[in-house]
Order: sequence, then structure tokens, then C-alpha cells
Amino acid sequence: MLLRNSIYRKHTMIANIQRLIVIIICLNLTVFSVLNEAKVFSKCDLAKELGKNGISRTFYGHWICLANAESGMNTTKINKLPNLTSSYGIFQINSKEWCREGRKGGKCNMKCEDFLDDDLKNDIDCVKKIQMQYGFNGWSVWQKKCKGKELPDISKCNA
Ligand SMILES: *[C@@H]1O[C@H](CO)[C@@H](O)[C@H](O)[C@H]1NC(C)=O
Ligand SMILES: *[C@@H]1O[C@H](CO)[C@@H](O)[C@H](O)[C@H]1NC(C)=O
Repeated sequence: MLLRNSIYRKHTMIANIQRLIVIIICLNLTVFSVLNEAKVFSKCDLAKELGKNGISRTFYGHWICLANAESGMNTTKINKLPNLTSSYGIFQINSKEWCREGRKGGKCNMKCEDFLDDDLKNDIDCVKKIQMQYGFNGWSVWQKKCKGKELPDISKCNA
């Protein structure tokens, strides 16, 4: 009787540990998938991404100031505007001209929602087109908060 009891207890203990392990794995997966999607960039991380995607170092300060002013460097930011368009992602790319909601389109031939992940390659490819057409003046926030202002100091970033 005593022996059977202790075997039983051992079994429930093992079952509980197994349950706990499953719960921990699930929690980790959830947290990881959230982290993997949304990202708030630091200015040095953003500088690195700009470099990787062919932006000249001369302009890092302008792009970082712009991303900070537009989205707080938050890749998941969506801003629904009163004129019934929306702006997406770290550089707030607008759905009127540059992308389409729910399917590929616009001048960047992109789905707007694809600008919300932490992979900035497609965002940067698109903002290069915007900049080629309008310069930084294509972002009214840049005119207000970055043009002629002191730009973020990236001299200490090793990018
Ligand atoms: C980033 O933006 C999303 C969507 O607006 C928001 O839910 C989230 O809290 C923001 N993250 C941070 C760290 O500000
Ligand atoms: C709506 O506003 C955004 C941001 O100012 C602008 O880029 C876009 O062209 C506007 N859309 C329309 C339809 O006027």
C-alpha cells in the first residue's frame, strides 16, 4: 500500500512536470512570435539596416530622424488618416500612392501590411522610390521635425 502510494505520487509528479514543460514551451513560442513580428528599432540598429540596404551614410541622420518622428521607430505602427488612407510601418508609407491594402500594388508594388514586420528591406526599397520622386519633402513630418534641425547623432554606432 505504501509502495503503491509512492509510485502513484511519483507518476502525478512526473505528469505535472510534463504539463509545466508544455506550458513553458507554449509561453516561449507566443512571446517569441510577438517579438519576431513587432520591433522598435534603436537608432544604431536602424543605421545598420540602412547601410545593408544601400543607403548612403550621409543620409542616415535624416532617415533616422524621419523614422523616429513618424513611428517612434516602431515597425508595427499603422496610422489611419482622416482622408481614408493609412500609413504603414517605421517610415509610415502611405496606402494612397505606394502600396495597396490586402494585396500587392501601388508604385512600390507592395502589400501595405508587409511593411509592418521587422524586415526593413522592402520598406527601404519603397522609401527610396518615394525619396527619388519627392525628396524628404514627401514626408510632411520630416519638414516639421527634421529639416534644418539637429539630426540624431550616430557617430557612436558601429554601423
Ligand atoms: C508599437 O506599435 C503598436 C501598434 O501601434 C503598439 O501596439 C505597440 O505597443 C507599440 N510598441 C511600443 C514598444 O511602443
Ligand atoms: C492623405 O494624406 C496622406 C498624408 O498626408 C497623403 O500622403 C495622401 O496622399 C493623402 N491621400 C489623399 C487621397 O489625399
